[in-house]
Amino acid sequence: MPALSPYTVIRPEPNGALLFQQETAETALLDLEGLDALYFLLKGEGRDYSPFFVTYLRAHRFVVMGPSDGSLERVAAVRDMAPTTTAPPRALAAPETVHFSVTGRCDQACAGCFYSARPGSAIAATDAPFELFERVVRQAAEARVFQIALGGGEPLLHPRLLDMVRLARQSGIVPNLTTNGNLLTVEVAVALQEAGLGQAQISLNGASEETNSATRPNFAQAMAAIEACQTAGLRFGINFLLTRSSLHDLEAVIHLGQAKGAATVNLLRPKPPTTEGDWLERESPTARDYRKVGYILKRCQLQPETRLTVDASLTFLLTAHQPRTLYRAGVWGCSAARKFVTVTQEGDVLPCSHVRWSDVGDGDVMRAWCESAIFARFRALEDTMRGPCRACDYLSLCRGCPAVAMAFGGEFGDSDPHCPQR
Ligand SMILES: C[S@@+](CC[C@H](N)C(=O)[O-])C[C@H]1O[C@@H](n2cnc3c(N)ncnc32)[C@H](O)[C@@H]1O
Repeated sequence: MPALSPYTVIRPEPNGALLFQQETAETALLDLEGLDALYFLLKGEGRDYSPFFVTYLRAHRFVVMGPSDGSLERVAAVRDMAPTTTAPPRALAAPETVHFSVTGRCDQACAGCFYSARPGSAIAATDAPFELFERVVRQAAEARVFQIALGGGEPLLHPRLLDMVRLARQSGIVPNLTTNGNLLTVEVAVALQEAGLGQAQISLNGASEETNSATRPNFAQAMAAIEACQTAGLRFGINFLLTRSSLHDLEAVIHLGQAKGAATVNLLRPKPPTTEGDWLERESPTARDYRKVGYILKRCQLQPETRLTVDASLTFLLTAHQPRTLYRAGVWGCSAARKFVTVTQEGDVLPCSHVRWSDVGDGDVMRAWCESAIFARFRALEDTMRGPCRACDYLSLCRGCPAVAMAFGGEFGDSDPHCPQR
């Protein structure tokens, strides 16, 4: 009998529902028709379901064959709530993910870092108070947020990181973290696993010491951290920052991730750093470079165990697919204030880690979600965008990256300067 996987969480959205698969961190947004189809599928009633829909839910392990374990009742309850659930325009009812900056401190200085408390940067070298984290988790659990991404700074430097991981998991939220790996020994990996960490994302900007060292000083430690996760059986992924210095290693890093058993290889786009004057101009791939990346991604054959993901600002790499295909695959483009928020270690709530505008503090995530004028501005982006993006078929699925557009001399709402579609 089809049932929701034990790892599938479901919450109501206006006229539909959002599914989250905790093992793969994938989401699926259903409209009312989709929610009905899911309900009747679990009920075992012989109806004509769209084969695409059923295949998708099973292939992505939202639905498995097995005992119902109350999943029909859970879907029924969400089906009752969906018609009266509200959300701000073009946003989910609540964030899918909260990015929480655990600390501004870091034990290394990477070139171009967007969050380093260094001389000349506006980031404070302070740790988030545990009470702030508790407040954020309490609100997030109530709003049924699915994930909390622990970053900074270097999160493993926080003396109460394990308590944070434990609290998030006990509150029904999957905690993940991004780390440089320096402190990620086998013992730490085991402790994180036991505390309930979902995934450790290890930053690695090259498959060799030489390429990695253009931006990051710790190739050996990052590789050791990968080994430690393998030994401890802790799910891990690789964060690869696509710069002009690292681009030639893209394929090699994807293969390395696959050979080491990474759950994901995630490609990041360079955003404005906190210091280092012309780093972004020097290191940002051009539209031509991104076209090359598109060819590389097309020819990379991945085993299903390793997923290749791109950060929301790289949606323009996906335009080999029709907009309808991307929509059905759940692509949202710039998701600031729509799917995620960031909370700094001082409690400021931001639409995105890369645009440090805030009109709500104290870690009050849901007040920002519902009332922030800054968030509303991000959600109106497709109405206000100027330039070539305005006429693009992918506008509502992409919206480029406002942080990059502004760093290159544009204003909020200007077109993305590096789109390979141009
Ligand atoms: C700021 S770091 C903090 C977490 C941890 N200390 C680490 O090094 O992974 C989070 C992620 O941002 C990436 N990153 C650093 N500077 C960036 C920039 N200017 N633009 C985009 N991503 C950047 C890093 O490669 C890393 O994967």
